[in-house]
Amino acid sequence: MSDDIAQRPATRQPRILLVDDEPVNLRLLLAMLQHEGYRDLVPVQDPEQLLVRYAEAPADLIVLDLNMPRVDGFEAMARLRALGDPLLPPILVLTAQRSREVLLRSLAAGARDFVSKPFDRVELLMRVRNLLDAHLAHRMLHERRQVLEEMVGQRTRELHDSRLMLLQKLGRAAEFRDEETGNHILRMSHTAALLAHALGWSPEQVDLLLNAAPMHDIGKIGIPDKVLLKPDRLEPDEWEVMKRHAEIGARMLEGGGCELTEMARLVAWTHHEKWDGSGYPRGLAGEAIPQAGRICAVADVFDALLSARPYKQPWSFESAVAHLRSGAGTHFDPQVVVCFLRQLPEVSAIRARFPD
Ligand SMILES: [Fe+2]
Ligand SMILES: [Fe+2]
Repeated sequence: MSDDIAQRPATRQPRILLVDDEPVNLRLLLAMLQHEGYRDLVPVQDPEQLLVRYAEAPADLIVLDLNMPRVDGFEAMARLRALGDPLLPPILVLTAQRSREVLLRSLAAGARDFVSKPFDRVELLMRVRNLLDAHLAHRMLHERRQVLEEMVGQRTRELHDSRLMLLQKLGRAAEFRDEETGNHILRMSHTAALLAHALGWSPEQVDLLLNAAPMHDIGKIGIPDKVLLKPDRLEPDEWEVMKRHAEIGARMLEGGGCELTEMARLVAWTHHEKWDGSGYPRGLAGEAIPQAGRICAVADVFDALLSARPYKQPWSFESAVAHLRSGAGTHFDPQVVVCFLRQLPEVSAIRARFPD
């Protein structure tokens, strides 16, 4: 054989489906191709069986008779195309009629090339080889693209995971400086995610908030010990220093260059804003406060009320709920509070899952 497609050792044998209702024709085709070195040949005498044989293993070429009973070549091509296979192999049509009409109809139906019956052996083998060459190149490109896409997906996941890991480490750093426990962070962020989900956020956005909310107090890293660790209530001037943690957190997370750090920055910056505009650091009001900040305000305050501090006893669940209800429209976004009140069983479940 002139070329070595049929004998290439590194690649598998090209698989060729031979579809013809005439046993004599099938035997002739088989003999010619076998003689040329092709090994993976699948004769199909009943065209009804074509799709069954096609499904058994990926084919690289289909040699198809046009004139067959019940399922003719056009019908066979229509069935093959209906599969929507991106790697549908080329179809080489065998036909006794070389009328212009038949040729055009075959091309429209998906034929790639023709051989007239009775066929010339050399011509047939050349056309088979050309079509196989083209298809194997096409298949290789297709497979390479799939590998590349998989690699890109893998790298994207790794990038996402390493960003997430770094942010979590940053969050741990802040915990060392704060009286708020790790479990406060977990309860608060899971509650925030619960509310975001109930408010109709997409799963991706909910996930972002879940991972970003733990950063809400990251700016406390920049607050002096004598204020941050003071066991008593803060004096007004000390409060002013303490309030700076929102701004400091936002500056720390600025320019992170990804959705996650951007969400974290937004939460750090706005979790102490109040619906009526009396919050800090910017005194934003109503919907000028990003919804992530309004959600985190509810989740953060609720959990803080239930936690013991050196200067206060923990509130009861009921009184904390009552506090949120009375703060709807002043401190809190009323819509978020309504949503919170509807989710009380789930909120309790989060508390049970991450106890102090
Ligand atoms: Fe805070
Ligand atoms: Fe907090």
